Amino acid sequence: MLHWTKIDRQITAGALDAGVIQLHGGIDQADRSELARIYAEGFGDTEIDLVIDDCSHFYAPTLASFNELFPRLRTGGLYVIEDWRWAHHDLDALPTDGSEPERMPVTRLLLEALTSIAATPGVIESIAVESDKALIVRGEAPIDPTTFDVTALSEPEGRTYMRSGKAQRRGLFRR
Ligand SMILES: C[S@@+](CC[C@H](N)C(=O)[O-])C[C@H]1O[C@@H](n2cnc3c(N)ncnc32)[C@H](O)[C@@H]1O
Repeated sequence: MLHWTKIDRQITAGALDAGVIQLHGGIDQADRSELARIYAEGFGDTEIDLVIDDCSHFYAPTLASFNELFPRLRTGGLYVIEDWRWAHHDLDALPTDGSEPERMPVTRLLLEALTSIAATPGVIESIAVESDKALIVRGEAPIDPTTFDVTALSEPEGRTYMRSGKAQRRGLFRR
């Protein structure tokens, strides 16, 4: 987990540059217009090097942030999603707000990002998955930030194949 208070202390102490790292709290990560406003205020048109998402770890709000902020990275820029494993690992705490298991874990977004590398090359350069975070690197392909949707670039059903003259899809989790 990324510790807000530690980062805040280091900025106050001058160890981190407040002109480079800005902290904004009390924001719903699914609120794309607020993210866009903060981005425009802080960075203007400049492409950034790094986004770290240590928020909900649920699919839908994490996807909203990803679709808004991933296109703002420079080529080679890094998008980090923290603590993705909570839905699969006994040692991680489950949400205490009653929302689990109805809400989809962020794991789904990682699978969409992964399959997009093959289905739509160049947008995501690579994805490295570690036990406590996933690191997604921006590729060289141009991205239209107004329409970017990683779900639409992914291929969760696999390529169509023909069986007995009928088009079939695989489905990643179909047995
Ligand atoms: C794993 S903790 C991260 C804590 C944070 N990095 C820090 O040091 O304080 C997850 C945090 O995400 C917040 N959160 C949950 N849903 C959110 C959402 N939709 N938008 C923004 N934050 C959210 C939770 O309230 C919680 O504080």
